[in-house]
Amino acid sequence: MKTYTTLTLEREGHTAVLTFNRPEVLNALNTTVATEALEAVETVGCDPEVRVLILTGAGRAFVAGADIAEMQSKNAQQARVYSELGHRFMNTLQDLPQPVIAAINGFCLGGGLEVALACDIRIAAEAAQFGLPETILGIIPGWGATQRAARLVGAARTKEMIFTGTRIKAAEALAMGLVNRVVPDGELMDTVREMAASMSRQGQTALRRAKQVINRGIELGLDEALRLEIDTFVDLFDTPDRCEGMRAFLEKRKPNFSGA
Ligand code: COA
Repeated sequence: MKTYTTLTLEREGHTAVLTFNRPEVLNALNTTVATEALEAVETVGCDPEVRVLILTGAGRAFVAGADIAEMQSKNAQQARVYSELGHRFMNTLQDLPQPVIAAINGFCLGGGLEVALACDIRIAAEAAQFGLPETILGIIPGWGATQRAARLVGAARTKEMIFTGTRIKAAEALAMGLVNRVVPDGELMDTVREMAASMSRQGQTALRRAKQVINRGIELGLDEALRLEIDTFVDLFDTPDRCEGMRAFLEKRKPNFSGA
């Protein structure tokens, strides 16, 4: 896969692993990282061989936020360009056809938490720490956290995180539903790879359609969202993978999906 300067993108079978790789600044997100990460995620989205994307960070951080050194000299117009780039990156991640798992190995602050919030699933190591410390810098989150965190854990918890800027530990993040699971530090990548492998064995059309229904449905009223579920459920009955999946179950064997 293509070489980048601020991250690595590797293929492990049907899984792609994107690793933010500026450990000397705790993987802080500057314009180059955001541009490269957007390109890498778009590449993954177009690759039919990749069934799951994992995001993680090199060193002791997942991502410790936007690069404050770069942000410091920006004017309002440049801040808009940076925020819009971030939103493009986050939206692309959220809308990726494949499931995306954040493997959160350490500091997950500011823009780092915003990246994690745009993923489908968040698995944290015990050492991970979370926070939205932007107000101490005189700004607010600018890559989606005001909305995605509020939708995930509720407005009150999001306000507490943003108004106080306090860092919280993995156990507390789990208790409030910010992460799906917390695992011992040394087991993070094995756990996430195992989860990715399990997703890779499912009917891929069904899995991708499930992601669309959940993501789109959550933004709709209940009646419309439930109709979307019915339509998608019905559509899938016309797919070869549905025939194979049900036949394999009845013949007591593993399915051999074609991905169609
Ligand atoms: N932007 C730019 N550089 C950053 C950074 C960021 N968001 N986060 C960390 N770094 C740099 C530090 O400046 C330091 O560089 P230096 O070695 O040249 O001094 C290096 O990464 C290591 O960080 P350091 O602060 O020494 O590590 P620590 O273990 O003492 O503290 C944190 C870790 C995460 C608590 C602390 O780095 C921090 O608060 N970072 C900023 C988090 C933040 O506000 N993010 C939101 C931005 S909108």
